Amino acid sequence: MEDACKPILNTGLRGVTVASTKISDVIGDKGKLIYRGYLAPDLAAKASYEEIIHLLLFEKLPNKEELAALKQQLTAERQIPEALIEALKTQPKMALPMDILQGAVALLANHDPEIGDASQASCVRKAIRLVAKLPTIVAAWERVRNGQNPVAPDPKLDHAANFLYMLFGKKPEAELVHFFDVGLVLHAEHSFNASTFAAREVASTRAHIYAAVSAAIGSLSGELHGGANVRVMQMLLEIGSPDRVEAYVKHVLEAGKLIMGLGHAVYKTDDPRAHILAPMSKRAGEMAGDTRWYEISKILEEKGKKAFKERKGTDIYVNVDFYSASLYYSMGIPVDLYTPLFAISRVAGWTAHVLEEQFAGAAPKPMLYRPESKYIGEYCGPDECSFVPIEKR
Ligand SMILES: CC(C)(COP(=O)(O)OP(=O)(O)OC[C@H]1O[C@@H](n2cnc3c(N)ncnc32)[C@H](O)[C@@H]1OP(=O)(O)O)[C@@H](O)C(=O)NCCC(=O)NCCS
Repeated sequence: MEDACKPILNTGLRGVTVASTKISDVIGDKGKLIYRGYLAPDLAAKASYEEIIHLLLFEKLPNKEELAALKQQLTAERQIPEALIEALKTQPKMALPMDILQGAVALLANHDPEIGDASQASCVRKAIRLVAKLPTIVAAWERVRNGQNPVAPDPKLDHAANFLYMLFGKKPEAELVHFFDVGLVLHAEHSFNASTFAAREVASTRAHIYAAVSAAIGSLSGELHGGANVRVMQMLLEIGSPDRVEAYVKHVLEAGKLIMGLGHAVYKTDDPRAHILAPMSKRAGEMAGDTRWYEISKILEEKGKKAFKERKGTDIYVNVDFYSASLYYSMGIPVDLYTPLFAISRVAGWTAHVLEEQFAGAAPKPMLYRPESKYIGEYCGPDECSFVPIEKR
């Protein structure tokens, strides 16, 4: 029964360091996000998403030849199997895109001729395959559910531009491609968040990388994690106009509900990603001829923080989802695809973590994750219960 000496931590693992990693660091009290030693906002200003993929998977920023080689590998791997497109066509149009993505990644494993090869070199190739194919799946699903044929990837376009091209069926504007690329860089990695932990936990069982990534997608779908960007946009749409923000904040906080996009489990100051996305949201609104969603967000940030402080006595800050929602909305991206967009970026981080878990070793050597729990259920008196046949219950 109970071991009185063991500490019980009903904390959702907060504050518990479960492994070491060389991939990224989140310094919550200073508002710093670091990818392999570099500040993420600095990378967002100066590097493309493809450079970040290289940094995460190969532990260094690429030189020109390395970047060209990686881009070549990515474009060569963008196609998804025809059988997968056919499978997408059999799914109900109302299916949740994250469920589609999770299932599609699991199905992709069946088409990988290297699935039985657990070597590091093969896993790196599979990681690149996943990073290359996730955008194709998301764009294909958007087309299929609207009764259109998927648009084939264009090898002449970089990662961000190609996704927008496959999604909308036309070449995107360069400024919007840049915003989207910055968004990909900023969402690519975030240490042991819930979905990355899910990926690592699955990888620790020595399951393959498709299993780990599909588990991570399931984890990301929740509204307290990657699903928050969808909930932010639904909230902005519900508010509808800047003059209704104050009443909305009052109503939500009085009802004990959440203002989506505020708060973070680790950052106790500004999320460094949020304020890079804010001006892009404004500009995308200007380009679309409607800055309302940015304006509502700006006022909501101010009023929400103030009202939260008055009620709780503590500060709260905007997180990455807060301005990404209005940015994507102004770009014309369907709201329920926001979380899949998060996934097509974060897959670089997930796969880097799977490689680290399986080959670099989180501990002195790779180790199966196996936490413990405290049983607080019933016994029958001092002993275990005797089984009662069903007729006698
Ligand atoms: C992200 C989140 C789970 C972080 O949680 P946390 O820092 O551990 O804070 P807690 O969940 O312990 O909340 C502390 C208190 O603040 C409240 N709170 C936290 N975020 C809030 C928000 N966005 N709006 C209103 N109240 C909030 C909680 O209800 C809780 O109140 P209580 O003490 O009366 O129960 C939480 O802030 C949240 O749910 N935010 C909205 C969802 C979101 O944007 N998620 C994306 C994260 S990147």
